[in-house]
Amino acid sequence: MDRTFVMVKPDGVARGLVGDIISRMERKGLKLVAAKLELLPENRVGEQYKEHLEKPFFPGLKRYIMSGPCMLMVWEGYGVVGIARTLIGATNPTEAAPGTIRGDLALDIGRNVIHGSDSPESAMREIGIHFSSQELVEYTRIDESLLYE
Ligand code: RTP
Ligand code: MG
Repeated sequence: MDRTFVMVKPDGVARGLVGDIISRMERKGLKLVAAKLELLPENRVGEQYKEHLEKPFFPGLKRYIMSGPCMLMVWEGYGVVGIARTLIGATNPTEAAPGTIRGDLALDIGRNVIHGSDSPESAMREIGIHFSSQELVEYTRIDESLLYE
């Protein structure tokens, strides 16, 4: 089964959006397999946003991500990486479609509420940064034939 890493950023946590975001993903049918609320240390922010280290926006991004606790999650489902990105919407909330998390709940690219891995390879890498294998819970949820043919 595919997995992705999703993180409600500090603005989303502080604005009380964690419940709404988890609810959207649960109602879609995705399965939560790990979750923790955590203030990220600097080294893990650097690892998470490795591809952006040299970008002009990186210092501001680091300040933003370390400004409060993040809600870190791993979600499971067939094609979950793309499905989560679709639920999340475009990076810039001014371009994010209504009905998406960023389209409904955010205004500014620098306060865009949520992160989701952009490929299966990134997902594997990011899950490894933030979670140990023991933290990924194996359990039976419902009869999966209610969700998948
Ligand atoms: P994320 O990694 O957080 O899921 O977002 P993303 O894939 O949609 O966008 P990405 O290009 O990876 O950018 C990572 C995060 O950096 C911040 N950003 N700020 N001020 C700017 O021009 C700018 N560009 C990017 C955003 O918080 C974005 O989500
Ligand atoms: Mg990204």
